[in-house]
Amino acid sequence: MKTVITFGTFDIFHIGHLNILRRASEMGDRLVVGISSDRLNFNKKQRHPVYPQQQRMAIVSQIKGVDEVFLEESLEKKAEYIRQFSASVLVMGDDWAGRFDHLQTLCKVCYLPRTPSISTTSIIEVTRSQII
Ligand code: CTP
Repeated sequence: MKTVITFGTFDIFHIGHLNILRRASEMGDRLVVGISSDRLNFNKKQRHPVYPQQQRMAIVSQIKGVDEVFLEESLEKKAEYIRQFSASVLVMGDDWAGRFDHLQTLCKVCYLPRTPSISTTSIIEVTRSQII
């Protein structure tokens, strides 16, 4: 059984999220997704997610191809999570290219191209500009 693991905040779920989860699920037999906790997201992006962690986990867990979700509490714990879930592939968007190469001793590390022209940040900005 080939387990793929990926990580992200997945706030305001959008087509870029759907695409990377679909591509990740096609790379193995089982897909496990680490959802950044609200606290981790604040440290990473200096803002609170729009949807709280329990809702983001509930949404991603219902996406076709996703077998399991868990809360990612720290960026430093990726090696621990890879071991915990016996993952043989780590998938990340190419906005993280090179950042996790050191984990190649544990599993294959694969950076997939981002879906162009969409992000949670841009959705927030566009929505805000239309309201004001
Ligand atoms: N992702 C993607 N294509 C996009 C946006 C995100 O492939 N257009 C991928 C990211 O590379 C990551 C995963 O989806 O592997 C979760 O990304 P996340 O940071 O939650 O989404 P963003 O939209 O990039 O969020 P933000 O704008 O807050 O940085």
